[in-house]
Amino acid sequence: MRILSGIQPSGALHIGNYFGMMRPCLELQKKGQAYLFIADYHALTQQPDPAELRARVLDVALDFLACGLDPEKAIFFRQSDIPEVTELTWILNCQTPVGLLERCHSYKDKISQGLTPNHGLFSYPVLMASDILIYKSTLVPVGKDQKQHLEVTRDIAIRFNNRYGKILTVPKEMIQENVAVVPGVDGEKMSKSYDNTIEIFDEEKALRKKVMKIVTDSTPVENPKDPDTCNVFALYKLFASDTETSDLRDRYLAGGMGYGEAKQALFEQCWEFFRPMREKREELSKNLDGVEDILVTGARKARKTAAETMAEVKTAVGL
Ligand code: ADP
Ligand code: TRP
Repeated sequence: MRILSGIQPSGALHIGNYFGMMRPCLELQKKGQAYLFIADYHALTQQPDPAELRARVLDVALDFLACGLDPEKAIFFRQSDIPEVTELTWILNCQTPVGLLERCHSYKDKISQGLTPNHGLFSYPVLMASDILIYKSTLVPVGKDQKQHLEVTRDIAIRFNNRYGKILTVPKEMIQENVAVVPGVDGEKMSKSYDNTIEIFDEEKALRKKVMKIVTDSTPVENPKDPDTCNVFALYKLFASDTETSDLRDRYLAGGMGYGEAKQALFEQCWEFFRPMREKREELSKNLDGVEDILVTGARKARKTAAETMAEVKTAVGL
């Protein structure tokens, strides 16, 4: 089994990223060869400030390592250290119908937000397909929002194989159904682009403030409350044990507990849950050269696999 996933260095890691993508990836690193990378080429579609992009890449590397990525087990690298992936993108671009990309929700969403798209944003899914296919990945753990991009990847791989012979591996996505969409403070999907995130490495005060901002309904303190429609409860469940979750559920149903109390309980769970990772991150950030070394070593290994696939692909297409 070859597991692969990537994350864009586009902002601080939030609870949605952690439960939707990072934790499943880290669990899988024990079960098969994992390729995990920081998608800095993808980040260019948003035209970030160069110094900020460089700093964010290191931030994401620290996040992953702090959360438990084991560089002895997983191959951890920066996407742009493998230029072959852009070479494969060009070849796959030439196999990708424009209509397939025009149908992508994430592209349509960005346009409907009023963004003038650059060509990189449009062909984003082809670069993502290359990321996956170049390492012959079999399993791709992602959040639900990436499902369509995996369908595009499979479509491209099948088209390529039909035309040139069975060279590319057709991958499957792995979506954590129970945490498929982690809600943000406003109850919508938690996302940097909706400004509703709770960052896992926030300072205590900032974290508490965000938790207290979570939107709830206006049921009075004394009345029973529905845990299953409450954003606070949805987040609490992610951190708490089964017993703690069922205790809080009972308190919701019994009435007499205000949402402020539930928020305080959530804050405490969240703060304690990430404590060891926070401490590890602090430690790692004192040795950024060591972090850079891990990325360079990972890139060397990933590049070897990428070069093998590229050689096969180029021969197949007649280059
Ligand atoms: P954002 O939406 O904040 O920009 P990204 O698009 O960079 O986050 O997502 C990085 C990874 O985290 C992806 O695999 C994505 O599916 C997952 N992810 C992001 N937000 C959530 C969420 N709210 N719930 C579950 N998974 C998520
Ligand atoms: N598009 C993904 C996101 O925004 C990041 C990504 C890039 C990715 N290439 C990938 C995820 C390959 C999985 C596999 O979250």
